[in-house]
Amino acid sequence: MPHLARRAADIQPFHVMELLRRARELEAQGRDIIHMEVGEPDFATPQPMLDAATRFLAGGQVHYTAALGLPALREALSGFYAQRFGAEVAPERIIITAGASGALMLALAATTDPGDEWLLPDPGYPSNRHMVRSFEGVARGLAVDAGSRYQPTPAQLTAAWGARTRGLMVATPSNPTGTLLSGDEIEALHRVTHARGGLLLVDEIYQGLTYGVDASTALSRPALNGADDLFVVNSFSKYFGMTGWRLGWLVVPPDYVRTVEKLAQHFFISPSTPAQHAALAAFAPATLEILEQRRHEFAARRNVLLPALRELGFHIATEPQGAFYIYADVSALADDAEALARRLIEQAGVAATPGLDFGDHLARRHLRIAYTTRSERLLEAVERMAKVLK
Ligand SMILES: Cc1ncc(COP(=O)(O)O)c(C=O)c1O
Repeated sequence: MPHLARRAADIQPFHVMELLRRARELEAQGRDIIHMEVGEPDFATPQPMLDAATRFLAGGQVHYTAALGLPALREALSGFYAQRFGAEVAPERIIITAGASGALMLALAATTDPGDEWLLPDPGYPSNRHMVRSFEGVARGLAVDAGSRYQPTPAQLTAAWGARTRGLMVATPSNPTGTLLSGDEIEALHRVTHARGGLLLVDEIYQGLTYGVDASTALSRPALNGADDLFVVNSFSKYFGMTGWRLGWLVVPPDYVRTVEKLAQHFFISPSTPAQHAALAAFAPATLEILEQRRHEFAARRNVLLPALRELGFHIATEPQGAFYIYADVSALADDAEALARRLIEQAGVAATPGLDFGDHLARRHLRIAYTTRSERLLEAVERMAKVLK
């Protein structure tokens, strides 16, 4: 028997990985699988970023950078906040990390004592609760549904707050539901956490991927930008199309910078150097133009898929306005979403993620369907599903 720490034994697998394994087996047998379970853009890294990385690599000097990241990249992000969002964010507060995942790890490591409780929406991004557990914290789900656009409300937060609660984590746009929190709503949540001496962590990893609504950041709200208890997580993975490069960032209140720096030194030494050089080209007009075209493409895909799924009998109570996911209630079609996901992969060759991956609340009634595939393939998936569901 391996000698496992209790915290490691508590970690659950991703259910979708089981499906992915089955998808790969079927593909090896020659079956065509349409992947709607994947949480990453299907687009390549934009050429200007590839060129920047290639130029850097050609020099051959691939060494560590400062633990907090390349000063030029922290400056560039500060400039991006100013230009795009009118938010003044000092580069000293911006910490470059190994994806949003690295940012979440650092934020939790810096703030969480054993037994500290973090409140998180259920459904929500699965890794959050496992990361909280890994730092000996306690993750407590706040059941959210279509009534509050799958986001926690101040009343719910107030009711759930306890003696050991350290803070609240939210994501806007959210995974798996694609719903947003407005600036007013984030401020209202912050008023609750702040009044209780707690922290608010806002995950903005899908920032920029919004449809019919402008991209936003909590940091453009003066009350939040100046707060000494607000953490903002972000990443180059999604809008910037850099999932495999493993690069993100964390914005912390000034008093946390030194602590996070020490943790980053020991956890990671530094973020990936080639990735940081690629990211220096992320804010060039030529790159942003490519990224905006892709955003329009995602909007078009959503507009194709949403009505088609509804037509099939999926119930989508709240229209997603961001990310690239549709969280669909399948109860009119099946008793159990996981069984339905298995049936869809076996009989229709369509892979989607069972709700169970995102929490417990009504999880067996939902599937997350990603539109990270071209519209023609999405429509083909709908046709294939229609045959199976008839
Ligand atoms: C809400 C959310 N946060 C964080 C992450 C981690 O992303 P990464 O580490 O690639 O930046 C993801 C990935 O899908 C996500 O959906």
